[in-house]
Amino acid sequence: MAENEYGRYTALVRELTEKRDTPSLACVHSYGCQQNVSDGEKIAGMLSVMGYGITNDINNADVIILNTCAVRENAELKVFGNIGDLKHLKEEKPDIIIGLCGCMAQQEHIVEKIKRSYKQVDIVFGTFAFKEFPKLLYTALTERKTVCDITEYKADIPEDISAVRGCKYKAGVPVMYGCNNFCTYCIVPYVRGRERSRRPENIIAEVKALVNDGCKEIMLLGQNVNSYGRGLDEDIDFSELLRRINHIDGDFRIRFMSPHPKDATPEFIDTIKECDKVCKHLHLPLQSGSDTVLKAMNRRYTVADYMKTVDYARSVMPDFSITTDIIVGFPNETYEDFLGTIDVMKRVRYDNIYSFIYSKRSGTKAAEIVDNTSEEDKGKWFRQLLEVQREISTEYYKRFIGKTMRVLFDGKGRRDGMMTGKSDEFIIVEAKGDESLIGQIKDVRITDSYNWAVHGEII
Ligand code: 5AD
Ligand code: SF4
Repeated sequence: MAENEYGRYTALVRELTEKRDTPSLACVHSYGCQQNVSDGEKIAGMLSVMGYGITNDINNADVIILNTCAVRENAELKVFGNIGDLKHLKEEKPDIIIGLCGCMAQQEHIVEKIKRSYKQVDIVFGTFAFKEFPKLLYTALTERKTVCDITEYKADIPEDISAVRGCKYKAGVPVMYGCNNFCTYCIVPYVRGRERSRRPENIIAEVKALVNDGCKEIMLLGQNVNSYGRGLDEDIDFSELLRRINHIDGDFRIRFMSPHPKDATPEFIDTIKECDKVCKHLHLPLQSGSDTVLKAMNRRYTVADYMKTVDYARSVMPDFSITTDIIVGFPNETYEDFLGTIDVMKRVRYDNIYSFIYSKRSGTKAAEIVDNTSEEDKGKWFRQLLEVQREISTEYYKRFIGKTMRVLFDGKGRRDGMMTGKSDEFIIVEAKGDESLIGQIKDVRITDSYNWAVHGEII
């Protein structure tokens, strides 16, 4: 869409909201990863410019946007459940607008299902049609018909939309969008398209503005952050971007999510070490500890390659925290393959793992494989994996006792009088305190450890 079209429809919707006697409200609900949450904040930003107040209360909203995730079937089922629940609200208040966007909405079979069975939905737009949203909203408001746009526009990443952020002290900043890797289980390359990097000066300007605004933690986002820079005119990679962001003045810390092990070079690890604002934590998605499964997943590294990176990281930063993603039950995975994963977990000693049972995603290569591994086995292995990780965390978290951790507090703890936050290492830390701690970074001396967190006293 031409820039002036985008502006014109934004102004047209604004005229409608300004004419109303009561303020118009919009609710944007994002599912899935941080990238999606960041997109949701931009959609809220667009709605705000169009005259809507932003609310978390779905029952009071005139416009409800569900910004969806397609990574596993569970995520999709949750969205269908929520749209189902909205049917009553739409019957009670037929004037509300219900919109569906994000990764799920980019898939044709989902759009067909919505059109067929979920008539309460007024707007559907995909991950490429951001800038079409004002036009779609205006059409839905004025013509009262269902509108849909999942065209794969080649449009630039919108740089001019300012986000309505959900949190003052933490922010996600996308550095690149899309993915070129085509891991055989993953839907992301199909719903988010090819890799596109943002220009470094735009990223730096956004980080500076956030830091000036009091933001204490910047999470750099991308489906594969260490592919950053490919395709830009300027010769820059993710390590160089980290160095430039590290140079920005201010009291803040830098995280990133997620790098791909195949691109985790020694230079990248050295950069994490050298940059004082970059958290000494690496989320390095393993997916499987079997070379056969890694090959079938098209991950393009072996267990030996992966361990080389881990060993290098530990040799330069012994206390370095490493977390990972693991998929259990890839089609035709055997118990021996699974034991390979357990073996890597024990060798690496992850601080934390995010584990998932394989979920078949239609359109991916893995979905075509005839799978002979039973769901029962997958469930059993999954529980075994969680148990092993619990033992590893229990043991490994003890290394923090007596040490001081820098913690950004973000909420109430599990027990009365306790507050919780995350350390630089991405470990949950609990300490005595009150809500005034939220959004502040404090040094905490660690006194106890559990399998899910450590406990300490603020210095
Ligand atoms: N099934 C299960 N887990 C998946 N992931 C991605 N696709 C699938 C799938 N089809 C997991 C991977 C990835 C994380 C974000 O989600 O572990 O790293
Ligand atoms: Fe879900 Fe992946 Fe889309 Fe993020 S990019 S919302 S994890 S499908």
